[in-house]
Amino acid sequence: MLLRQLISEGTATVSQAFPEREAREMVLLYLGYALGTSRHTHIIEPSYEVSDVHASDAMKAFARMAAGEPIQYIIGMAYFYGREFLVTPDVLIPRPETELLCREVIDWTDSYGLPSGGLRIADLCTGSGCIAWTLALELPGTEVLAVDISDGALDVAAGQSFGKDGCKSPSFFKADVLAGPQDRFGTFDVMVSNPPYVMESEKAMMRKNVLEHEPELALFVPDNDPLIFYRAVADWAKKLLKPGGLCFVEINESLGEETADVFRDRGFKDVQVVKDLSERDRFVRAIQDFS
Ligand SMILES: C[S@@+](CC[C@H](N)C(=O)[O-])C[C@H]1O[C@@H](n2cnc3c(N)ncnc32)[C@H](O)[C@@H]1O
Repeated sequence: MLLRQLISEGTATVSQAFPEREAREMVLLYLGYALGTSRHTHIIEPSYEVSDVHASDAMKAFARMAAGEPIQYIIGMAYFYGREFLVTPDVLIPRPETELLCREVIDWTDSYGLPSGGLRIADLCTGSGCIAWTLALELPGTEVLAVDISDGALDVAAGQSFGKDGCKSPSFFKADVLAGPQDRFGTFDVMVSNPPYVMESEKAMMRKNVLEHEPELALFVPDNDPLIFYRAVADWAKKLLKPGGLCFVEINESLGEETADVFRDRGFKDVQVVKDLSERDRFVRAIQDFS
């Protein structure tokens, strides 16, 4: 089959569920990944042929997209902070707002200065390891330790292929963040977390493809205790952050000040709610007191 024919048939299939422009982008992304073609191959080489096997695999993939399966799970990859991360249905697909979390932490380290022996960063609820690896890669010499409760997620995080890219690979451990801070991990200059924070009652507002395909364990908290992970993360930070160290967490936009209060109540200083690019309350930053 000709590539250009495959693109138009694929776009027609995926447009059953998405606007045509978005459907075409998804088709081009899939084909680039599966065949190594560029967005312009079908224009520059109008007679470019795709083998029957590849065309049939592609049409199956397009049918999965039309049924609502996220393209990142189909190709097994998601972009985050300009890099390709492996993803499986065991991990949340990294979100653009979480890139901002990394940016804020990297910017903050400029003012903090580099401790002798290098920075130590902890990432609680690491999922695909997108935050842990990004900080390790962007802050060379930094030691990053990351934990998650899911074996599947830890396999994905540890299996990312950046180990040879000139950074210290993060260390990944299985731990239940809700079970309280673990001294065995030592102390840290920075503690970050993007924990589960979607309330069960918010399910109704969520897109079907998220609900049906992304792991429940990564997303939801009970309506009657939506800040459960923030109290736990604040306890880890209180115990394991060095004086002057930064705790930076992604939050539920409807609970900005309530989440900040969790940190204020524990004696952190300079506690602030930080907005994302859409002006929504998206993060809380807190500094460990010196006393
Ligand atoms: C919102 S996802 C975030 C993943 C990743 N940090 C990101 O930003 O894409 C939350 C993660 O918390 C993990 N998790 C859920 N309950 C946990 C617990 N009690 N202890 C540790 N990790 C937990 C899930 O497995 C999931 O990987």
